[in-house]
Order: sequence, then structure tokens, then C-alpha cells
Amino acid sequence: MVSFELTEEQQLVQQTARDFATRELAPRAAERDRQAIFPAAELRKLAELGLMGINVPAAYGGAEAGVVATSLAVTEIARGCASTAVTVSVSNMVAEIICAFGTEEQKRKHVPRMTSGEYTCSAFALSEPHCGSDAAALRTTAKRVSGGWLLNGSKQWISHGDHSGVIVVWARTNDRPGAKGVSAFLVDKGAAGLIVGKHEEKMGLRGSTTVPLTFEDCLLPEGALIGVEGGGFAVAMTALDGGRIGVASQALGIGQAALDEARRYATERKAFGAPLAALEAIQFMLADCSVELEAARLLTLRAALLKEQKRPFTREASMAKVYTTETANRVCYRALQIHGGYGYTKEYAIERLTRDARVTTIYEGTSEIQRLVIGRDLVKD
Ligand code: CAA
Repeated sequence: MVSFELTEEQQLVQQTARDFATRELAPRAAERDRQAIFPAAELRKLAELGLMGINVPAAYGGAEAGVVATSLAVTEIARGCASTAVTVSVSNMVAEIICAFGTEEQKRKHVPRMTSGEYTCSAFALSEPHCGSDAAALRTTAKRVSGGWLLNGSKQWISHGDHSGVIVVWARTNDRPGAKGVSAFLVDKGAAGLIVGKHEEKMGLRGSTTVPLTFEDCLLPEGALIGVEGGGFAVAMTALDGGRIGVASQALGIGQAALDEARRYATERKAFGAPLAALEAIQFMLADCSVELEAARLLTLRAALLKEQKRPFTREASMAKVYTTETANRVCYRALQIHGGYGYTKEYAIERLTRDARVTTIYEGTSEIQRLVIGRDLVKD
């Protein structure tokens, strides 16, 4: 039986994130977007509130509050600032990777630094310039050498890779083709041979940095391998299943913020002698937004609950991601339409929300990849 009644702890996490987002994130979200300001100070405060390791055991400084609580927190943070939310979501995902696949030494070294805010954030480096959706085609190599591994190659689209205390990097460690030759490594910030490229000039999420990373004879210690040699692809896929719930949660927050803006504008703006909100054409748009966001919320919470209960959730995470991210884009479209010409200017938040929503159907697996995951699962024997 699946129940969506929130526990006291989940409500507390949600309220903590909501209060922080309202007080500290939303007021400067427009400025962060305009000037591309990375929210480093805010991320440290989020760590103090226990929100940088929500589903991490207390033994490593985590809040141990579970997957549903993580989803609720990311949604509230995104409602205030979508740029901050992507960093929170990815960092929580990386903390979970280390907890699930790391050695005791790796956990002790990194996870308390992630949860305490000593590391501003953490990154996930899978995509390469020539391959995003076809992740198993990656070309970065890690060769065994005396005392460790020599990493060479390039990664692309790495969210906050320049600010991260630790980066999980996927590389080919043997000649086996495709997914079988891939292993995962933990690379420390400032490692010799790690070169951080220039920030991408993005359409949205401008408060979050996105950089290419290059590895030139980057020497990693023996203990940098996470999981088993050749088992890295499954680590990436397992992490992305969870990460997709994070992106769905983020999109839900953006969509909710867009609906809030549309409602506010529709009640304030007058046309034909009455507020816009009195017009059925506007009410129908608001109603569609509300119905679709509610459906998206339930899909997202269901996927989160399945993961929390350690039941299979791959298909459900993809369903949540594809539906919620496409909903967020539809909601932003309608909300901007309700704003008329004003919505097309930077004076109103809906302009930024529309740009922020766009990438959610692309990163951590495009909508097409989600449909592929769902479709394959439906026809498997
Ligand atoms: N969980 C665990 N293992 C899984 C898995 C899952 N969900 N999905 C696949 N695997 C395993 C398979 O069992 C298989 O293992 P065996 O060979 O031992 O059986 C292996 O992985 C290969 O699986 P496939 O044959 O299905 O692999 P594929 O090459 O056909 O690719 C794919 C499958 C779903 C298309 C995958 O490549 C994919 O998800 N692509 C999208 C990648 C992606 O989401 N990138 C996002 C980048 S990160 C990002 O955006 C981060 C950011 O900073 C915001």
C-alpha cells in the first residue's frame, strides 16, 4: 500500500526548505540569474540545515530523512531558486553514490565534508563532448599504473564542476566494449592534471555553473576507484535513477512557482472591467496547470517512496521525470501567456522560470531517453 501522508520528519524537512527558500533564496533569484552568481554561501547554510545529505546516514553527518524528504526539499528549494536546487539535487545524489558504493575509507573521507558544507557541493561527470544520451560510448580512460590510475579524457556539461570538493568521474578501464569496460572514480578538487574549462553561457539556471573538465595524465591513488572495476556503468545508472527523481522534484518546484506567479498576475491585472482571473479562458489555463502539477507531484512522490522502500523504481523514476519536466514547461508556457507582453520581459519572474524549466527535459536523461527506459521495461519478457 502506497501512502502519501507525510511523516512529521518529512513535514519538518519540507518546512525547513520552504522557509529557507522564501527567506534566503527567492529574494535574490533574479539577481543570481542576471549576474550569474553561484550560491556558495547559501549552499553552506543549506548544509547547516542538514539539506546537503538528506538521505545519508547520520554516521556520516547526514540527516537520514529518506528519499521522499529529499524530493520535498528539492521541490521547495526550486520554488525559490532553480539554480540552487540543481546543485542541491546533484550533491545529494553524489553523497548517496559514495554511501552506496564507496569503501569505508571513501565514505569517511568525503561524506562528512559534503554534509557539513566543507565541500560547497559535489559533481557527477559522465557525459563527454561526443556522447550524452549514449553514455556507454564514453572515451575517457583510466589506465592502471604503479600506485594508482592515470586518467585522460574530457567531460562535458558538468554542473558546478568548478566548485565541487569531489567529482565522480566515469572512465574506461579495460578493452571490453560499451558499458562493460566502464569504472567510476572519485577525483578530489584541485587534483593535478584536472583542468576546469570555461563556464557555459546558458539560457537558464544561470546561477549554477556548467563547465567542461579535462584530465591530462591525472594521477589518482589506488583508493580512488569506487565500486568494482568494470562495474561503473551500473553505478551511473543506479545513481541516475535516483537523480531523475531529483530533477522531477526540481521541475515540480519551478512549475509550482510559475503557477504562483500566474495566479498572482491574474488576480492583479484588470481587463474588460475585471481581474483577468474572472475570465474562464484564464481559469481554464490555471486549472490545467494545477491538475497536471498535482499528477506530476504524485508520480514523483511515488517514485521517491518506491526508492525509499528499496523496491524497483527505474521505470517510475523515468515516468516521474518525463511527465514532471514536460509539465513544468507547459505550465511556464501558459503562465507566460497569462502575463501577456509583460511575461516576455525580465521584469517578471515567469521569464526566468520559463528559461530555467527548459533544461529539465534534457539533463539527467532527455525525455526521449526516459521514454526509451519506460518502453524497454514495458516490452521486456
Ligand atoms: N540500474 C542498474 N543497472 C542498469 C540500469 C539501471 N537503471 N540500466 C542499465 N543497467 C545496466 C544493465 O543491466 C546492463 O548491465 P549488464 O550488461 O550487466 O546486463 C548495463 O547497465 C548496460 O545497460 P544497457 O544495455 O541498457 O545500456 P545502453 O547502452 O543501452 O544504455 C541508457 C541505456 C538507458 C540509454 C543509458 O545510456 C542512459 O541512461 N543514457 C542517458 C544518460 C544520462 O542520463 N546522462 C545524464 C548525464 S548526467 C547529468 O545530466 C548530470 C548533471 O550534472 C545535471
